[in-house]
Formats: sequence, structure tokens, C-alpha cells
Amino acid sequence: QWGLKTEWLGRNIIHRATADSTQRIAHQAARNNAAHGTVIVADEQTAGKGRMGRQWNSAKHKGIWMSIILRPAITPAAAPQLTLLTATVLADVISEVTIAKPTIKWPNDLLINHKKTAGILTEMQAEQDRIQYIIVGIGMNVNHTADEFPVSVKNKATSVKSETANEQPIVPLIQQLLHDFEQAYDDFIEHGFSNIKNKWESYAYRIGDTIRIQTNHTEIEAVFTGVAEDGALLIHTDNGETQKVYSGEIEWFHG
Ligand code: BTN
Repeated sequence: QWGLKTEWLGRNIIHRATADSTQRIAHQAARNNAAHGTVIVADEQTAGKGRMGRQWNSAKHKGIWMSIILRPAITPAAAPQLTLLTATVLADVISEVTIAKPTIKWPNDLLINHKKTAGILTEMQAEQDRIQYIIVGIGMNVNHTADEFPVSVKNKATSVKSETANEQPIVPLIQQLLHDFEQAYDDFIEHGFSNIKNKWESYAYRIGDTIRIQTNHTEIEAVFTGVAEDGALLIHTDNGETQKVYSGEIEWFHG
């Protein structure tokens, strides 16, 4: 059914026509000792979860709604690297399979023509300094037409089809995604973060541009130069310093 091109990723696929959230199912499976590389995929989700407690709209056959269970032998502090890795994989898949030119907006939104096409939700279960498991949730909008998005996200959200005028069958996209993810993951485990960092930066939205950052007490303008190993945004300030930014409101100036 899946025609996989992978060695270990997705060798166990749990498929649901309807799920509340593949993320929830993945947590449950992981607690019940599901193997590294187990994949949960749904045709639709009735309670898809986004970052920061938001909802994720997951209409039937309109996109990839998937969660991957990983058991990497890395420290919890290195876990953000997996999210950055996932973003580069999604950007690769979109560029390989479609004519769209994706960018990655820090920390991990996939954009096409400045609008969000895919998002990543990474959740980790760790005890002391050992990772029990990491669940990487991937939501990619593929076949929505513009009017199929809820009004609340209409100006910010898009799909591959809306931006390229081409419908994409979901299964080949999933095959490519799992293939590219496995390659990137194996490379990461073997060679570390530097290849991912370079690739992430090559896709980065507005890299080299001046951005405005609002943190707790201050507002700064600085040049966005890249991403750090711990997932922080790197900026270069006027007085010649490089700083890390972990969160805060960011204004992405128009070029
Ligand atoms: C974001 O807010 O940008 C992240 C969205 C992640 C959505 C995916 S869809 C598959 C998986 N299951 C969920 O409930 N959420 C993630």
C-alpha cells in the first residue's frame, strides 16, 4: 500500500481513516513500547494539535497528517535539532515533488509565497538526561483550495495546490517524505548537526534581512544571520555582537 523506499522508517505504519490526533495516538503507542521509526498517519484528524495549544485544521485527504516516533540516543538539549532537521526534509520534499519554492520561517514553519504550508510539532518524553522518545508531528497542507481554509487563517495559510495549481496525490508525497527523513536522520546521527544547519539556512526565510524583535523588556533591530545548534535564532546587532534569540515577537520586514 505504501511502497516505501526506506530501511527502517515507517516499517511499522499505523494508518487511520479518521483520528482525533495522530500525535495523541503516537504518545500512546510510544508508551506501549512502539519501535523507533513507527509512523502514525491519518486521512483526517478531528482534533489536530498545533503548537502553543492551537488547533490544526486537518481535512480529509487534503494533506499529510503524520506523527513519527523516534528513540534517538541524543541528549534532550539536542532535541530541537530534530525539529530543524524535519523542516529541511519538508522543504526538500516540496522542492523535489512540486514546482513550488519553499522557505523555512524560524523556528519551523514551511512557507510557500510567504504563506504557511506546513508545520511541525515536536514533543519529547525524557527522564533525567535520557530521552525515552520523541514524537515529530508533521502537518502539510497539500490539496486545499484557497476557500477551503477557515476564515481565521485564510490570509496566513496556503497549500501546495493553491500555490502551484497542481493537485498532488498524498501517498507518493509520504513515500518521498519518509525516504528523505530517513536519509537526513541517518546523516544527522552519523555526522552531527552541521549539514542540517547549512541546509536549514539555505532555505531560511529572510536570512540576511534586518528584523525587529520584541522580547520581555526590549525591542531590538538586528540582522538575522542563521540558526544555532540549540535551535535559537542568531542575530547580528549594530554593535557587532552575535546574539541568540529563543522566543519573542518577531517582525519580519518586507524586503
Ligand atoms: C504547528 O502549529 O505549526 C504544528 C502543526 C502540527 C500538526 C500535525 S498534523 C499531525 C500531527 N498530529 C497532530 O495533532 N498535530 C501534528
